[in-house]
Order: sequence, then C-alpha cells, then structure tokens
Amino acid sequence: MEPKSAFLQNLQESLSEGTFVKLTLSKPGRKGSDLKNVYARLVELKGETALSFTLRYATKDETKNHPIAEALGVIDLWLGEDFLNADLFTTQADISLQYNRKRKARLFRRKPTHEAPPARSHDKPKQYFIEPKGNAYLHAMGITSANGKVKADGQRKFRQINKYIEIVDSLLQQHGNFPQQPHIVDMGSGKGYLTFALYDHLLNNRKQQPTITGIELRDNLVDFCNTLAPKAGFTGLQFVAQDIFEYQPARIDMLIALHACDIATDIAIAKGVDAGAEIIIVAPCCHKQVRKAMQATDALQPMLRHGILQERQAELVTDGLRALLMEEQGYDTKVFEFVSTAHTPKNLMIVGIKGNGNPRDRREIDRIKADFGVSEHYLERLLLPVG
Ligand SMILES: C[S@@+](CC[C@H](N)C(=O)[O-])C[C@H]1O[C@@H](n2cnc3c(N)ncnc32)[C@H](O)[C@@H]1O
Repeated sequence: MEPKSAFLQNLQESLSEGTFVKLTLSKPGRKGSDLKNVYARLVELKGETALSFTLRYATKDETKNHPIAEALGVIDLWLGEDFLNADLFTTQADISLQYNRKRKARLFRRKPTHEAPPARSHDKPKQYFIEPKGNAYLHAMGITSANGKVKADGQRKFRQINKYIEIVDSLLQQHGNFPQQPHIVDMGSGKGYLTFALYDHLLNNRKQQPTITGIELRDNLVDFCNTLAPKAGFTGLQFVAQDIFEYQPARIDMLIALHACDIATDIAIAKGVDAGAEIIIVAPCCHKQVRKAMQATDALQPMLRHGILQERQAELVTDGLRALLMEEQGYDTKVFEFVSTAHTPKNLMIVGIKGNGNPRDRREIDRIKADFGVSEHYLERLLLPVG
C-alpha cells in the first residue's frame, strides 16, 4: 500500500478503535501559504464525535469542527499538497508521513509516546463570571439581545467585562481579608457596564453585600445608571454626578478608575491612598500631563524626535512612576495588560494592594525623572510625602 493510503488507514482505524490521541500537520507545501500548521483532536459535539481542527495561520488561529468522515476527506486533500508532514499519535504507535522535495512520501512508525487517549472536550456552554442570559443591565446597555445572546457588536465589551471580573476576583482571593460589606468607589464610571458587572459578581457570585458608588462628570450617564440600578435589583449601587476631585469619601475599601482621562487617574489613586483603600485598580487612559512636562534630554533627543515615540515614552514614565509612587505609599503593585490589544489599545492595568510596598529613597524617583527629562508628575504633587 502506498504511504499516504497506509497513513489514512491508520488514522481511520485509530479513530474507530478509540486509540487516537492527536494529529498534527506541518511543513506547508504551497509557496507563500499563510496556513502554517493544523492540530486535530477528538471532541463531542451535540452527542456526535468530531475532529476539531485548529488551523494556525501566521497571525491568527481558527477552529473548524468536522464529523469524522468529512474530516478524513479534508485530511486526504491536505496531505502531500498543503502539508508535507503529518504526525499521528495513537496509543499503539506514533506514525509519521513525510514528503521530500520531489513529493515522494515515506511512512515511519515508532513506539507510542502516549499511553492513553486524552479526555474529550464536550460542547458545554462556556462558563462566564457574568452570564449574558437573564442580566437586564447587559441588555439595557446594548451588550446582549432581548433573548440574552451577546450581540456581535457587544462581544468586545462582554469579553472585557469578564476579563475584568476575573482579575478583580483573583485579587479578592489573594487579599483574603477584604470586608464582606465593602464600599467600592469607581471613579469615572462612564456608562457603568464594568461597575454594574462588579456589583453583580460580588452580590450574586461571591455572596457579599457591597456598596458601590460610581462617580461620573456626565449627568446623562449618571441618570441612566441610577435608573437602571434598581431595575436590576442592585440596591447598593449608586452613581453621583461629580468631579472626582471634589469627591470626599468617608471610607473606600477598593478604588477603581478605568480609563479615566489623564490626571483623573492620578486624582483617583491619591483619593484611594488617602482613604487607605485596601485595593486600588486603575487602567490609565491618555498621558497628556507628563507628555507636556517631558523635555527629551540631550541623550534621548535623537530617538525622541518622533512624536509617537515621545508618546510611548510618556506612557512608560507616567505609569512606571505611578507604580513607584504607590509602592512608596505602602502598596504592593503589579502592572500588566488586562485584555488583548485587539480589544482595546488602552489595556494597561496598575493594581496596588495595601501591604509593605517599597518605601524608597526619594532620590531614586528624582533620578528617574531627571533621566527622562520629566519636570513634574501630577501624582507626586497629590500624595503626601511619606515619613
Ligand atoms: C473613557 S470613560 C471610561 C468609563 C468606564 N470607566 C469604562 O472603563 O468603561 C472615562 C469617563 O471618566 C469621566 N471623567 C473624566 N474625568 C472625570 C472627573 N474629573 N470626574 C468624574 N468623571 C470624570 C468621563 O466623563 C468619562 O465618562
């Protein structure tokens, strides 16, 4: 039997006998092909066995599921044309089909590297922190349809909501001592979808009794959110139309400011620090203040003659110093990307958890400012010197 037919027969048998582990196709056979390799595994879809292909392109992955007979046909077409290498792993043997430059095929059979087939994944509905169904506020905000399905143009926000809740949840788990009835302030709450989602998660998933206050300059958004909160049954959620600079909280356990513009992020951090918030979460937006206060040093001038690089530099310095200044105030900080840049370019998150921080020599921060040619960082002005 010729090698390709023997390979396909082995594949078919492994699928029917339950010895199949996985299959990979590699070494693209067509010049300039964007499809780099394919990885196949067995899944159960609506009670039917299928092969799930992950197609790896240069810049993205795509998943396609095919019933077994159809999948074998697709693989037959790919072998020796789109892919010149195929590796089949079964519990009986590892079998490779390899084509040389003249497209002559050879079959190799080795001892198996897998003892048992992997557990098959099922098409269970995905579990989210925030479920799309039955959440009136998601529908009112235009993220889901009336029957609780995430709309095509709501997907990005829905993913962002769930990623955000996942992060907050993990911070709460790390913290351990976070109060059962916390007061949380969301500064620059905007349309409020993240604020509502957090309230929903704390109340319904974590069984806490939160009070959350959203502070927002725009009256129309505050009215919208205040009308919606009681309809969603969120009695401890309220919104205040105010400049965050003026807001004087009695108590803050968690301070949040997501995409609050420029120095609004600094004001929020300072309010959180002053109130002794246990957790501070900010996702900065624009970085105009430091950009204006930054004069490239002679050493950096040749590189920073490009405006875009000046902007990147301003972002780096603004957020880097924010984290250092928070550490100086006794917060342990983390800086990371919280959603893929494909969802939003504003994806940096700075988290501070009250702890030991890193009380540092003031001259260290001064030196960084001097090295980057920064005359002033607004947060420094707002925070009281430590010690
Ligand atoms: C880009 S939106 C972000 C909204 C929300 N946090 C989110 O991430 O979806 C920023 C919001 O902050 C509000 N804002 C900016 N400066 C503010 C200030 N000084 N006081 C209160 N709200 C402010 C704006 O009106 C805007 O609605």
